[in-house]
Amino acid sequence: MDTKPAVSALSEAKRWPVHVEVRLKSRASARFDTIRKHVQTFVASHDRLGIPSVLEGWQDLPELAASVEIINICETPCTKQSLSRAEMMLHVHVYQPSDGDSFEEFATGTGNGSEDDDTMAASVCELPNRSWEGLWNSLIYAGDIKLKLLDYIHATLLLSDAGVDFNLVSWNRVVLLHGPPGTGKTSLCRALAQKLSIRLSHRYSHARLLEINSHSLFSKWFSESGKLVQRLFNSINELIEEEDGFVVVLIDEVESLTAARAGAMAGTEPSDGLRVVNALLTQLDKLKHRKNVLIMSTSNLVNAIDSAFVDRADIVQFIDLPTREAIYEVLRSCLCEVIAKGVVAPAKIPTLKQAQMFEVVTKAGDDHTCKTEDPHEKQKYLGLRVLKLATQCRSQQMSGRALRRLPVLALARYLGMGSTAQTSETGTNGSATGVADIDIWLDGMAQVIQEQMKEREHLQQQ
Ligand SMILES: Nc1ncnc2c1ncn2[C@@H]1O[C@H](COP(=O)(O)OP(=O)(O)OP(=O)(O)O)[C@@H](O)[C@H]1O
Ligand SMILES: [Mg+2]
Repeated sequence: MDTKPAVSALSEAKRWPVHVEVRLKSRASARFDTIRKHVQTFVASHDRLGIPSVLEGWQDLPELAASVEIINICETPCTKQSLSRAEMMLHVHVYQPSDGDSFEEFATGTGNGSEDDDTMAASVCELPNRSWEGLWNSLIYAGDIKLKLLDYIHATLLLSDAGVDFNLVSWNRVVLLHGPPGTGKTSLCRALAQKLSIRLSHRYSHARLLEINSHSLFSKWFSESGKLVQRLFNSINELIEEEDGFVVVLIDEVESLTAARAGAMAGTEPSDGLRVVNALLTQLDKLKHRKNVLIMSTSNLVNAIDSAFVDRADIVQFIDLPTREAIYEVLRSCLCEVIAKGVVAPAKIPTLKQAQMFEVVTKAGDDHTCKTEDPHEKQKYLGLRVLKLATQCRSQQMSGRALRRLPVLALARYLGMGSTAQTSETGTNGSATGVADIDIWLDGMAQVIQEQMKEREHLQQQ
């Protein structure tokens, strides 16, 4: 994220900042600056760009083809779906993600070799990381939650750069995401960390994501937990000492660390919990003065969190269950993936906008079948079917997690590979696969939803 261009964007009316992310191949050794210049020239050679979109055509340029893996045209504050060259102010970010296995464990042990002391309190991974590639785009929310988070970071950088007096205007570098299970809170924290490491690469030479294992911070030795927190933050401080490194700290399920102190004070909680909350709050207050750190936290139970922690969060964001429209997009992305990998026969699932158009022009009671040969009619049929599925999922209050497993359950329960194989082909991964028609898949998914509805009713009756 570039603060300077954003400031000038205000003065240069009608030129929207457009972020272009360029991922390099693992083995590429080209200089980032060189690639940036080539990409800048290549992108500027287009009269118009779709936003967001994946850029094509660079594969014909040897200097890019040798090093580049993908060029993504990312979000812009402008709501248009495409922008002309004259309307864009390009920010090209070149990055080379680390391989997924570069995780380190982080112990809070005293180093005296005692097993009891060696609690694995956190894991650290280098950013950007291949493990989190594509995560940001895969998360779909009804509102502008993702942009809001990026804008928050942007704002903090802008004010830091302007040198505002922290006694007069201050913030805590803490974000709290809360909401029902499976709504993508943890994923969004990781995706944001990845995004920031790419966008801030011109400021920080490296970035890390440190995920705290909240449960491990409770020592089995009574009264030791506060010290474990202290030790963990000593290590975090060491990471932050490197001023050219950016650190995102993720405290998942933060309610387990910051159980409301009210309970502790009333004598219903062991006082060890109190020590943990106090230690954490003290450490957070120290971290807020460091520019190169962001604390992301998540919770299912915001009411169980100590109010002093909630008060320290600059952004407290509720992440709700997906709307019908978000569900459509999630289901569409699942289906497009199984089609792209050759598990489902080729089919074109319309975008949400197209499907909504079909819905508007379709009269209730119109009969659409998949038997039609007309590609437009077929798309219309598929769009309406997926919309219908989305309505059912919404009425079931399904989470993003539940939606993403629908295809696997449909395959496992209703499509058993042998029974559905209509043709036997070789998938893109080279293995022999039974390629079922999309319609059979949609039937399977509808059956899974029905089945889950009955299961829910059983649960509620108990
Ligand atoms: N809004 C969403 N859009 C797309 N995918 C989603 C969404 N919400 C959840 N998912 C998917 O569901 C899975 C679970 O998400 P995640 O673990 O981040 O949820 P969570 O909110 O942290 O859940 P919990 O509260 O149980 O810890 C991920 O694979 C994620 O991609
Ligand atoms: Mg989670």
